[in-house]
Amino acid sequence: MSLELNAVTVTLGRTDARTTILDGLDVTFEPGRMTALVGPSGSGKSTLLAVAGALLRPTSGQVLLDGENLAGLSDDRRAKARRERIGYMFQSGNLLSGLTAIDQLLTAVHISGARPRAHRSRAEEALNRVGLGHRLRHRPEQLSGGERQRVALARALFLSPKLLLIDEPTAAVDRSQAGDLAALLAERAHQDNCVMVVATHDRTVAEAADRVVDMAALTADAAPSAPAGR
Ligand SMILES: Nc1ncnc2c1ncn2[C@@H]1O[C@H](COP(=O)(O)OP(=O)(O)O)[C@@H](O)[C@H]1O
Ligand SMILES: [Mg+2]
Repeated sequence: MSLELNAVTVTLGRTDARTTILDGLDVTFEPGRMTALVGPSGSGKSTLLAVAGALLRPTSGQVLLDGENLAGLSDDRRAKARRERIGYMFQSGNLLSGLTAIDQLLTAVHISGARPRAHRSRAEEALNRVGLGHRLRHRPEQLSGGERQRVALARALFLSPKLLLIDEPTAAVDRSQAGDLAALLAERAHQDNCVMVVATHDRTVAEAADRVVDMAALTADAAPSAPAGR
């Protein structure tokens, strides 16, 4: 189970104002490891996550998840892959206001069509694993920024995705909580054995990662042997 991007190019905009965001990018991400994707704002980190997560079809190139090319699937099959194999966690967590932590997780089950009651104890366990066993019935407005991100992480992991894509997880989190959250991400990648890619410009997150991939080293004209970062 790995995620492999082969010669991925993304060109956006109208024909008279085309911009190439990703240009022939090759990279492989392994399971059981947290990879931090770093690079300045505008370098294409979020675009790479959108392509990897089958949210955006590349203009050309392959996105191989466990050997299957997500870029070549029909829209329906891509939606199915997103539901069944991919988890997402974004900057602000995107929790639903008014719902308890446990219901944030169970909502994912509603969407996938399974009966929520059978999953209640699993949702509790998932929240325990992110250190929120004492916050099961708290609503987003009753949680700190770091706690909200833990709920978002538990929700993203709840259906056991093979691939977990995370964008700027510490952007809305206190500095004191960012280190704890980063360590938790690494722990979940190791224990759940998923492919985890975290776009970040937070040094704390990069330090907790098993591997750091710099967007600058992924561009088509970067020398393959160049050290990461330059
Ligand atoms: N829909 C779009 N149309 C044209 N350009 C876009 C679009 N979305 C993003 N971009 C541009 O793509 C580049 C990369 O954006 P992004 O992937 O968000 O970078 P990052 O996450 O590293 O900050 C930026 O220059 C941005 O302005
Ligand atoms: Mg971004």
